[in-house]
Parts: sequence; C-alpha cells; structure tokens
Amino acid sequence: MPIDSGEKTLPHLEARSRILHALALASLTAALALPVSAAPKKIIFDTDPGTDDAMALMLALNSPELDVRAITVVPGNVTAAQGLENALRMVSLANRCDIPVAAGAQHPLFQKLITAEFWHGRNGLANVELPPSKCKVDARYGPDLIIQMVHAAPHEITLVPVGPLTNIALAVERDPSIVPLVKEVILMGGSISGGNVNAAAEANIYNDPEAAQIVFQAGWPVTMVGLDVGDKTLLSQKYLDQLGSTHGPVNDFIHSVAQFLVDLAAKFGSPGTPMYDPLAVGVAVDATLVKAPDMHVDVETRGDFTRGETVANRHGYIEKNILHGDRYIIQGVDQVAPNAKVCVEVEADRFLQLFVSRIQGK
Ligand code: BDR
Ligand code: CA
Repeated sequence: MPIDSGEKTLPHLEARSRILHALALASLTAALALPVSAAPKKIIFDTDPGTDDAMALMLALNSPELDVRAITVVPGNVTAAQGLENALRMVSLANRCDIPVAAGAQHPLFQKLITAEFWHGRNGLANVELPPSKCKVDARYGPDLIIQMVHAAPHEITLVPVGPLTNIALAVERDPSIVPLVKEVILMGGSISGGNVNAAAEANIYNDPEAAQIVFQAGWPVTMVGLDVGDKTLLSQKYLDQLGSTHGPVNDFIHSVAQFLVDLAAKFGSPGTPMYDPLAVGVAVDATLVKAPDMHVDVETRGDFTRGETVANRHGYIEKNILHGDRYIIQGVDQVAPNAKVCVEVEADRFLQLFVSRIQGK
C-alpha cells in the first residue's frame, strides 16, 4: 500500500496540472514545430540523483510532452538512501507530490556499489541544500512499482532509466511478462567510442554490467543515449547565463547545479558540461533530436579491461567460421538482429535551447 502522501487537494492539483500541461503543449508544439502527439508520453523515470539526473528530472517535469508517472531510485551516483532523499526533495521543490517516488535496489546485482560524490558533490546535488521534502515516499518497491504500472497501462509506459540498470533488470527478472507490454526503453548509458570510467566503460553500465546485459537482451525496443552523443551536448557559460536571466525555485536550483558542473568541467579543460541524463529525457520528448541507427549491443561482463563496455555490432552480421581439420575457415556470415537504436548524432544547440527554455518554464 502506498503511504498516504498527506496532500488532501491532490486530485484537484493533478487535474489542474494536466490541463496546464495540455495548454502548454498546444502552444509549444506550435512555436517549436514539435511533433504533436495525442497525449503526453507516460514515463517512469529511474534515477540515481545525481546532478545531471536532477537536470533531467526537471526537464521531464517541465515538458508537456511527458507525463511522469513515477520516479524509482537506484543507487549509483550516491547511495540508495541519499538518492531517495534527493528525489523526494526535488519533487517537493517542483510541487509534484502527486508523483510516486519509490526506493528500489540497494546495491548492484553482483558487485559492490561505487558512488560518485567526487563528480556530483557530497550530497549528489552539487552541494545545494534543498528544503526538506513535503512529499512522502511511496511504500512500494521500485521494480514492483514498475511492474504494476506497466500492467495497468499496457503498451503505454516508456521507461527512462538514467542510472545503473539494476531496478529495470530486477523488474524484468521478477516479471518477464512486462517486456512486450513496455512501449520503449530510452536509457542513458554506454558508449561505442570509449568510456568515462576507464578506457572502455561508461559509468551507468560499469556500475551494473549484468543488469545492463539483461536490459539490452530483454527484447523490448531500446534507445541507447550514450556518451557518444552526451559529450556533444555541452552546456556552456552561454546557456548558463541564459538560465540565470530568469528566476524561480526550479530555475535557480538547476542554475546552481549547472554552475557547479560548468566550473567542474572547466577544471578538466572542457568549455561546458555534458548533458548525459537530460539528453535521454530530450530524446523522450523529441526523438528527432538524434540520429540513432539500429545495432546489436552486448554488454561485456568479463574482460580484464573491458567489463561494462557496450559492444555494438554496426554491420548486422558476424562471420561464420567452420572447423576444417586444425583451423577454422570463414564460410560466410550470420545475420545479427539489432536490439537497440544507438544515438550517434545530436542536434546539440536545438536540444540545449529546449532544455534552457523548459527549465525557465517557457
Ligand atoms: C552517467 O553517469 C552518472 O554519473 C551520470 O548521472 C550519468 O547518468 C554518465 O556516465
Ligand atoms: Ca544518472
């Protein structure tokens, strides 16, 4: 049973918020020439908040094309407990106690948790102290909440995981029948051109490679928004100044987080901070922001130097080798079915403008 949120006026607020979303959608789609869809896309946002997770969440909450049905928390950038606290404080800041926020896994499937306060600040939110949350945690276990919601709205739910894929893998393991019922999975993770943790692996995949392999092989439509495109979406001082020209609780919070990240990026010689998680939400809002050819992706779970690497077959085949005496002879190729759309190009400025204007509430 969900814990009572304590908000007695919720139905009214929710209805009002949906009407405002619908009105905003009409004017925004006209202004930005975005594809008009009949109804907002229902998403479950799975997150390890996290600075760029915070930016992604606020983008999702401020985008009328999306209807955030639930937030599930996974350990990654910070511990599960800190991530839950951060998620609750953020939904409270955004006045969205109507959205269930649930705890999930407490650690990766088979390895020890690696947290990233080094990159995200001691509390995971750039050291910004948000006010205590007015919202209460939902008592359901994150993977079970995902399962429940998918069954309640078959073929309608898009999963948007932007942390390690532990919760999503657990949901599939507990109830594989959700796979054909999920509309699509748009995940931030992986890379086909080298990692950020080490030479090969991207952090979300490295932090739970077995979970990632389950998610990639599940058989549902996956879009991989990896480092390859995230690194092309640098939020620089120019966009930060734009964001600083307007004010409001969410606007100011995201400005502080972005300032922390831009300063951090500068220390590493970069002119801006990569918008990894926000871009996954951007792709959920508008898939035309990216080019994403079909590929077959596997996750390396063993290699000494490559554990956590996403290995993508770009050609759609592998050689067929047949043993003849003491050697193999290539005798043709076997087709490999694609299991993911892998983002390789992005209209970075269009995305960054979208991000800034949505955070500004425009
Ligand atoms: C990913 O790792 C995390 O640190 C970020 O939040 C993002 O999801 C980038 O590799
Ligand atoms: Ca993240």
